[in-house]
Amino acid sequence: MKTNRDVVNKKNILCIGAGYVGGPTMAMIAAKCPDYRVTVVDINTQRIAAWNSANLPIYEPGLDELVRTVRGRNLFFSTDIDGGIRDNDIIFVSVNTPTKTFGAGAGMAADLQYWEKTARQILENSISNKVVIEKSTLPVKTALAMERILNSQPNGISFDVLSNPEFLAEGSAIHDLENPDRILIGSRETERGRSARNSIVEIYARWIPRDRIITTNIWSSELSKLVSNAFLAQRISSINAISALCEKTEADVTEVARAVGMDSRIGAKFLNASVGFGGSCFKKDILNLVYLCRFYGLEEVADYWDSVVNINAYQQERFIMNMMTAMFNTLAGKRICIFGFAFKANTGDTRESPAIFIAKRLLEEHAEVVISDPKALDNARIDLSGRAGVLDYREDPYEAAAGCHAIAVMTEWDIYRTLDYERIYREMAKPAFIFDGRNILDHAACFRIGFNVYPIGKPSLTHFES
Ligand code: NAD
Ligand code: UGA
Repeated sequence: MKTNRDVVNKKNILCIGAGYVGGPTMAMIAAKCPDYRVTVVDINTQRIAAWNSANLPIYEPGLDELVRTVRGRNLFFSTDIDGGIRDNDIIFVSVNTPTKTFGAGAGMAADLQYWEKTARQILENSISNKVVIEKSTLPVKTALAMERILNSQPNGISFDVLSNPEFLAEGSAIHDLENPDRILIGSRETERGRSARNSIVEIYARWIPRDRIITTNIWSSELSKLVSNAFLAQRISSINAISALCEKTEADVTEVARAVGMDSRIGAKFLNASVGFGGSCFKKDILNLVYLCRFYGLEEVADYWDSVVNINAYQQERFIMNMMTAMFNTLAGKRICIFGFAFKANTGDTRESPAIFIAKRLLEEHAEVVISDPKALDNARIDLSGRAGVLDYREDPYEAAAGCHAIAVMTEWDIYRTLDYERIYREMAKPAFIFDGRNILDHAACFRIGFNVYPIGKPSLTHFES
């Protein structure tokens, strides 16, 4: 047992939560700080077993190689959460914070039960001072609740709570962790708070230029994470709203986005019109922001951000209605192939993927659905389990499309850009349709082959007489 409780061992790091954030983030820290011992723990024994195996629990380009370099050297995965807390004084918490599904705030607020359970577990197992770092995305002021729980027993141990939100995007997580736009670390503006903050700055400074490591007060840090996701999602909803207008006016949303994005004050990124944004965080974090605004009586602010989520739902429903109208007002009995089930390319993650909504709606319309994806079929089977109707899963896109009346592109996987669409067209039912929910195909070429092509926010290309 440690005797000097004032000393924080700065070379041992624990991360509670071995998910999409905890695993890759800690692998990067272990790689860049070989003199640190990094341990990642989780209640999910299967997940930990997978992290310790050749088949990692998540797919992320470059992750396998990174983990292979550091695992067993200074990166360890374990289910011993209590032991981990005892042995490590720097504790990142990266557990999930989903939208609450019950009681007050259901469907809006963050469900903090995993978070609070972790706080209590840290308290119960601590025998020395700890720096506890919020890595999960949390409502503003969560650190206050954390501090109150941790300091609820007069045991002579002190806890410093910091906020260090993660900004990585799935599919490019390793690149983002290695070259982040910024690292944000928030703390109490006290001597202790600043000292704890500096110990975390030191870790990141091993590979990230100091001018990209920003420190703020803890509430600004918590709020900045929610706001970053809200701004990113707002750009997508903005361009998607305009895509609907483009379809009515023969403007082309790609041309509009280019013209608008070339204004350096606006910028070109995140202006790709699509069937809608997915992923585990955008919707959850905006709803959390909306809930916070309502909590503080800021109804107009809440409504403004709520509309970002509403447009996203509208865009997905609009996609289905466009399919229906194009295919002679009925989808019943038609076989529809979904190209891509992941919420974006280069990940197997399907959380909140628009493909889930589209597949369910197609089944409701009594269409037969065939799903193809290079990495996400296992998750697709889970997402659609128990759904009534004809459902088929084929990794090979040619097999998937054969005999179908339509293809709906849901994920911007590169492979879909370069398929032999002449071959696909030959093997489909006629008239054959393509609904490109990502605007990634060569629409003119597909039209020349014989397809009726429906992009997002562009005039459709059809072989029918008007
Ligand atoms: P995840 O669901 O992949 O992983 C969370 C892990 O925490 C799970 O493995 C779960 O078993 C574990 N866990 C839950 N309660 C626990 C407990 N009491 N003790 C130990 N382990 C516990 O989630 P994620 O995608 O890694 O997201 C984690 C947090 O990071 C969320 O707040 C999310 O908003 C945020 N975030 C996610 C991303 C992303 O790209 N996925 C990016 C930035 C921020
Ligand atoms: C997003 C943010 O980009 C990260 O900074 C943040 O850390 C993360 O959420 C989080 O907090 O979880 P992620 O959801 O992994 O990352 O992926 P994005 O690249 O942001 O894409 C989100 C969704 O928006 C995807 O469905 C994507 O296809 C869609 N999208 C993105 C568009 O429809 N159009 C665009 O122009 C960009």
